[in-house]
Amino acid sequence: MNHKLPKEKLLELAAQHGTPLYINSLASLNEQADILLGLNLPFGYMPRYAAKANMNPDIIGLFNQKGIQFDASSSYEVMELMKMGVEAEKISLSSQQPAHNLEELLELGVLFVATSMHQLGLFMAAENHPGKVGLRINPGVGAGGTNRTTTGGENSSFGLWHEYLNDALALCDKNNVAVDRLHIHYGSGANPDIWEKVIKSSLNIVKDMPGVTSLDIGGGFKVCRYEGEQEADMGTIGAVFSAELEAFAAETGRKISLELEPGTWLVAHAGTLVAQVADIVDTGPHGRTFLRLNTGMNDLIRPTMYGAQHQIEVLNNSEETKSYVVVGHNCESGDILTPAPGNPEEIAERVLHKATIGDVVAIYDTGAYGRYFAVAGYNSFPSAKEITV
Ligand SMILES: Cc1ncc(COP(=O)(O)O)c(C=O)c1O
Repeated sequence: MNHKLPKEKLLELAAQHGTPLYINSLASLNEQADILLGLNLPFGYMPRYAAKANMNPDIIGLFNQKGIQFDASSSYEVMELMKMGVEAEKISLSSQQPAHNLEELLELGVLFVATSMHQLGLFMAAENHPGKVGLRINPGVGAGGTNRTTTGGENSSFGLWHEYLNDALALCDKNNVAVDRLHIHYGSGANPDIWEKVIKSSLNIVKDMPGVTSLDIGGGFKVCRYEGEQEADMGTIGAVFSAELEAFAAETGRKISLELEPGTWLVAHAGTLVAQVADIVDTGPHGRTFLRLNTGMNDLIRPTMYGAQHQIEVLNNSEETKSYVVVGHNCESGDILTPAPGNPEEIAERVLHKATIGDVVAIYDTGAYGRYFAVAGYNSFPSAKEITV
């Protein structure tokens, strides 16, 4: 499907609600959720939404109602999800910072994943622990578009380093705790061959963990937000997963249920950030022309942080085009919405409809790591409003 809302609709909503405005498309959210839920995987598959990607209550409510469960990245995120009506047993917590309320979460029935030896120790010290725990492992390799999105390998602090697995298992054994879930998140990719390697190497680790019945292979299924980027085909990747799980079962007699944990793939296409041209400045005849929007890194930081590319459209009917650098309104020279691809240090120009101050501008595919990932509060700008249509 073309995930983009029609231009007329964006203009109408901008006029009605003001800008900057995040617009979430229910049609897109439903479509992605249905594809994920429809994957034909053996042995009790469970899709989880990596809620950090977008904590909008409409999105959480929709996925909850459709039967998707949740991955939380902090104990505070767990509490927010529960405030939005998600039941504790549907939330798996895998956080970098130890939970501020571990005993409360265990009492409620939240699934706990220890991501370090220290966290494992805290779990065992909790008087009400359920006797079984998940373990997040850093498998020693990772993949990602940039170093800032790679979450495996020697340079990543995420998860227990794989060489310490035996120590962790011995500690659990000694304390009569079963490790029943393995959690791994390599980074991000779209290529099914990469996912084949990921599941093979994850199942190899499962071989050394006899109590594991469920494998959470994380998220990181890439989407195409800009020309040249590859979109993960979940049907093809699901078939790869299925074949590997079946082969593992045939070899070991163990039927491992798979959990997938996408954030981006579920919500990126659903979001459009609509803003307005607040100013147009230039640096002389040999310099650049800058379109300054009434939004920026306080609403959307991906371009500044990763050199991420989003399609940008000036929603006027001008037949003339012009080359612009699109920048945000924050007092920060890095607040650039058109960096060079993958390189936030460099700026790039985009050919857009010739703009005038006040024109409405759409920044597409901003549903993931947008509104809830930004440097909210900077320069005291109010955050973009959000609506779901
Ligand atoms: C453990 C874990 N699961 C899921 C995700 C979601 O990743 P994505 O939004 O790329 O699917 C992340 C992202 O960093 C993660 O660290």
